[in-house]
Amino acid sequence: MRIQVNARNRGYDFEALPGEKVLYAGLRAGIDLPYECATGTCGTCKATLMSGRVRDGWPEAPGKKFVKPAANEFLMCQCAAEEALTLEVSKFVYPVETGACVPQKAVGTLRKPRMLTHDVMGFALEFEEPREFDAGQFVLLACEGIAGYRGYSMCNFARGGRSLDFVVKRKPDGGFCDWLFGGKRDGARVETFGPLGKATFDPALGKNVLLIAGGSGIAGMMSILVRAQEARYFERHRGWLFFGVRTLRDAFFLDELSRFSNVDITVALSEEVAPAKTPWPKLRFETGLVHEVAKRAMAGKYQDLRAYVAGPPPAVDAAIRVLLLEAKLTTDNIRYDKYT
Ligand SMILES: Cc1cc2nc3c(=O)[nH]c(=O)nc-3n(C[C@H](O)[C@H](O)[C@H](O)COP(=O)(O)OP(=O)(O)OC[C@H]3O[C@@H](n4cnc5c(N)ncnc54)[C@H](O)[C@@H]3O)c2cc1C
Ligand code: FES
Repeated sequence: MRIQVNARNRGYDFEALPGEKVLYAGLRAGIDLPYECATGTCGTCKATLMSGRVRDGWPEAPGKKFVKPAANEFLMCQCAAEEALTLEVSKFVYPVETGACVPQKAVGTLRKPRMLTHDVMGFALEFEEPREFDAGQFVLLACEGIAGYRGYSMCNFARGGRSLDFVVKRKPDGGFCDWLFGGKRDGARVETFGPLGKATFDPALGKNVLLIAGGSGIAGMMSILVRAQEARYFERHRGWLFFGVRTLRDAFFLDELSRFSNVDITVALSEEVAPAKTPWPKLRFETGLVHEVAKRAMAGKYQDLRAYVAGPPPAVDAAIRVLLLEAKLTTDNIRYDKYT
């Protein structure tokens, strides 16, 4: 199915497979169409249908509140072409940068599922072919019997690697989470599409790095830390990580975090007083919401800085406010993923 997209700066055309969502077909063709969640919640992938017909795969998607159906607007991440389409996108759209990883579909085998806390599970997906991605990216996962994709950030980093590692915080009554936590999933087949996301870190950045993670938002930060450690980045630049959880019982990866060198790591506990002594002497423990703890610790240290933020939307929004109003960072130096 032929799809023509007219963006603010220029036009593109590409082919979509039968039933393939417009966004995924465009990204697969190397066109950096606008998106954030890629799963129907944020509204960023809104486009206007000028000709042709689309099938909406999820008419109740929360992101629909950002579109005006009467003006022929629709979500590219939820709609597939039923015939040749012409669309308008009100944003500037560019081809994906040379050398960037172009997303594609692949099926992986779930391995090593293990509980990291009472409601957080870690697991790996193993592939037959290498799966390239940039540190900080995510993929979409789908399993049999559950409609639609879910976004999950990789927590490892390895060029040419065949394994992607994930951490999943259980969402009460969530379809994918009930599937994952509800049975023996070792060996299950999981469909993926990716890599996706622009909150990426590359050692060519040449700036100090501030990482702020709420809960499972630590996933992408682990990938960034692994990449930075491998390039000995923090021998030349400063690095800070603030990891927010409710209580010590909700924290995980503390042994792994203790192994990174030259990075200042603080665990912020929002619902209990931080203990004076812990089994992780290299980590600092503070009391408070993660954005408040970061704001206190970072005062006067915002020069030459790129910040990365991930986690639940309220935690991300609060951290972004601090980065804009206190740190006065430009939007290009604030990269984030909202775990909607
Ligand atoms: C960029 C990004 C990265 C993320 N990374 C992580 C991470 O590393 N770890 C983590 O714990 N969480 C992460 N999340 C959050 C995670 O994606 C959600 O917690 C997850 O979607 C919950 O899925 P569920 O099926 O359990 O919940 P549900 O409430 O059943 O579904 C949640 C989501 O699934 C999709 N969906 C539901 N029904 C349909 C349908 N009928 N058709 C199409 N789509 C549907 C929608 O996107 C919906 O918001 C991330 C989110 C994003 C956007
Ligand atoms: S990218 Fe489509 S709704 Fe978020």
